[in-house]
Amino acid sequence: MRQQIAAANWKMNLTIGQAEKLLDDILSVDWALKPWQQVVLAVPAPYLYPAVQKWKASGQSQVSISAQNCYSEKSGAYTGETSAEMLASLVVTHVIIGHSERREIFHETNALLAKKVDIALSFNLTPIFCCGEPLSIREAGTQNAFVAKQLEESLYHLDAETIQKLVIAYEPIWAIGTGKTATSEQAQEMHHYLRSVLAHKYGAAVAGRVSILYGGSVKAANAQELFSQPDVDGGLVGGASLIHKEFDAIIRALK
Ligand code: 13P
Repeated sequence: MRQQIAAANWKMNLTIGQAEKLLDDILSVDWALKPWQQVVLAVPAPYLYPAVQKWKASGQSQVSISAQNCYSEKSGAYTGETSAEMLASLVVTHVIIGHSERREIFHETNALLAKKVDIALSFNLTPIFCCGEPLSIREAGTQNAFVAKQLEESLYHLDAETIQKLVIAYEPIWAIGTGKTATSEQAQEMHHYLRSVLAHKYGAAVAGRVSILYGGSVKAANAQELFSQPDVDGGLVGGASLIHKEFDAIIRALK
């Protein structure tokens, strides 16, 4: 059974005091998760160390701490960047790569993201690789080709064994932070398509083992409906993950 994941992406939000309170709230709950279910918390870089300390103290074996980004080079004169090796040394286990905000605001290209995926994997980090189309592409009806190209150019150099180490997150840009969620049918349609693209390249068995999360205005009120779709393996949650009650309900919506 492939992993089902409720992942929080806090983005650039919260003070340390607020972050510690939210971590305490989340980590104190026992959701009685099934062995194939997991919670991932992608916290801002300065809070990774305290988050890992709190996570260790909590004994929550099905919670993982994630970074929101890493740099493509191993180490050196890259002021302000965080390396995959630093993350691994903190016992951070996941890293979001290719979020649409990184692509749009920081001009990250598919080629750069391929390098980030490689360096993350070389330090045994699990990349949460984001893909998704802007509104103009959705309106033109060319979203499938657009998203397939993102996968092709950033992931297709990986072999069949390695691709299974990734988590993919489909986040249509028009649904991020807009309150405008993709319908569960739209999400399922794209997730099914992405799995078929992976199956074409790597075979159906491999594609069937890759978790594909949906992101874009996931909240307590729509999580269950989205997660009930056969190819939706959980969510990557922005705004709603900052509110303990909301995120708790989203975790409980894992099927
Ligand atoms: P929202 O849940 O705030 O729409 O953000 C989604 C997202 O970008 C998660 O990475």
